[in-house]
Amino acid sequence: MTTTGNLDALLRETRVFPPSDEFRAQANVNDERIYERAAQDPEAYWAEQAQQLTWFRPFEQILEWNPPHAKWFLGGTLNAAYNAVDRHRESHRKNKAAILWEGEPGDSRVYTYDMLGREVDRAAHMLSRLGVKKGDRVAIYLPMIPELVISMLACAKIGAIHSVVFAGFSAKALRERVVDCDAKVVITADAGHRRGGFIPLKQNTDEALAGTDVRHVLVVQRIGEASGAEMTEGRDVYWHELAKQVPNTPYPPAEMDAEDILFLLYTSGTTGKPKGIVHSTAGYLVGANTSVRTVFDLKDSDVFFCTADIGWITGHTYVVYGPLSAGATVVMYEGAPDWPHRGRLWELVDKYGATIFYTAPTLIRTLMKWGPQFLEPYSLDSLRLLASVGEPINPEAWMWFHSHIGKGRLPIVDTWWQTETGCAMIAPLPGLTSTKPGSATRPVPGISAKVVDEEGNEVEPGHGGYLVITKPWPSMLRTVWGDDDRFRNTYFGKFPGIYLPGDGAHLDEDGYVWILGRIDDVINVSGHRIGTMEVESALVDHPAVAEAAVIGRTHEVKGQAITAFVTLREGVDASPELVTELKQHVVEKIGAMARPEEILFTAELPKTRSAKIMRRLLRDIAEGRVVGDTTTLADPSVIEQLKAAYKDSE
Ligand code: WT7
Repeated sequence: MTTTGNLDALLRETRVFPPSDEFRAQANVNDERIYERAAQDPEAYWAEQAQQLTWFRPFEQILEWNPPHAKWFLGGTLNAAYNAVDRHRESHRKNKAAILWEGEPGDSRVYTYDMLGREVDRAAHMLSRLGVKKGDRVAIYLPMIPELVISMLACAKIGAIHSVVFAGFSAKALRERVVDCDAKVVITADAGHRRGGFIPLKQNTDEALAGTDVRHVLVVQRIGEASGAEMTEGRDVYWHELAKQVPNTPYPPAEMDAEDILFLLYTSGTTGKPKGIVHSTAGYLVGANTSVRTVFDLKDSDVFFCTADIGWITGHTYVVYGPLSAGATVVMYEGAPDWPHRGRLWELVDKYGATIFYTAPTLIRTLMKWGPQFLEPYSLDSLRLLASVGEPINPEAWMWFHSHIGKGRLPIVDTWWQTETGCAMIAPLPGLTSTKPGSATRPVPGISAKVVDEEGNEVEPGHGGYLVITKPWPSMLRTVWGDDDRFRNTYFGKFPGIYLPGDGAHLDEDGYVWILGRIDDVINVSGHRIGTMEVESALVDHPAVAEAAVIGRTHEVKGQAITAFVTLREGVDASPELVTELKQHVVEKIGAMARPEEILFTAELPKTRSAKIMRRLLRDIAEGRVVGDTTTLADPSVIEQLKAAYKDSE
């Protein structure tokens, strides 16, 4: 479990913030009975929420539950792109802004729903011209530019399955994901902007695709000649060129079954291999759409600004499918929050009149470190709701967000959820719930989350245990792509028929849930999930490395940072150059977010007599604590060596 220091602070937190009368009066949900009603008949609750979508054919059955497999809204047909865009083109929202996009260098583009719809139609024609059909996989490796949203929706319109790969992933990580899902087409850009420099996306793509079955690469020109991108004859085509060759006509939306797959999104687990999380069309959309209306109190007049990259689930649900299916306006920003200056996000809030602002605790802690003076030039008056996601938010960061961004008057919704859950699961309803800094509060209506002990019995208030979800919900993952056994074992292996997210949690006297962090070998660095095994495999892949053990240690800004303990092969000498080289090796294997904060060389790793690495001891050392119980160690002298190595590194 994470961050013991934070944990004590969390559990001592006693402040309570009830919703203001003003907020409550205007809230989409302000009748407490919604919880009871949904708990009594969750299926009826979700069926009612599902009426917010436009169905081609209504569903006949709400749920079929053969644990661990759920099917929702059986017999219904619909199209996700039609729901996110086309139905608004046929309404009063036709000329309403769907996307207010700002590029890193300061260029900007606005798409109304009608304009966005025309672009999606064109892109659907383009993909179809490249041979993409219903059920085919399309990998999307793009920066935060409008073509990313357009590509996802074009896939949805055709009925193809999109698999977005975060543009910060390396060529090798892209390759692994493309091969795993057998993508037919990859959509990328010549390069992407990042802090004044470029990310060589096309070059990475070329490296990733060598020897794969990918037929075509569709390339958005974001940078132009300076990108140095090279095109492969017969395989690669520029987006703007293909766009001229396809008809400028509506593309008919594919009629998709409720359970047809909408997308895959890879995430890390406890093995070295990422899991392709499978999401369905109807259930996912119902979850995304319901949560923007309830948890985020979204209205037609809202301007929703979620700072997450679309390469992660937060961006899928709260930049694309949630707010667009509800017909809102979203702000989308291409660049880094501190580029070209530290006030960039607040400048955008004021420029576009953002009303809802959704970000991660790590960003708030970064702002705290900078100090509030960079906020001075901005009014932030348009904001009416703040939200947090990605990791437990420490009460100090919550209070800073509340006072400096919220000016002491805006509700904060801390939303706990996962790639696998599709939408927010434990979160306040801002017109109803009194919030406590550091707690995601209660499960949202229709979700039955509990904290249980080792035997699966519910814990008493004031105790901790495993967080579990006891009933299926519409936006739950359907399986792991190509590996249903892994799906079964990872999520339903411990308590049959009950979903295990892999987080520890504490239940307080008021029944509020306090998420404590991962209980498996997963690290949360700046809200990004990284498997310790993935980093270990990357390190062991280097010829100098014999063995590696990777842990997450508490970090002031990132929440957790990666510390690697490495044993070198015989004859290899430790050196600062080797540290740099190994860190770079991990970046090449996975991506910059997995770069170890520190690498410590040690002659031995602490192991039990059955050769299991004792990570708990490594965490104690890295966090400077008294090293715990060492009686099961095969060789207790290892601890002294490790401590000495750690001292040397400081
Ligand atoms: C893990 C999921 C879906 C959001 C982005 C991360 C941690 C997420 C919270 C929160 C405490 C949180 C959990 C979870 N987490 N939100 N509000 N409070 N912890 O998605 O990469 O699938 O990671 O992030 O540990 O299991 P993800």
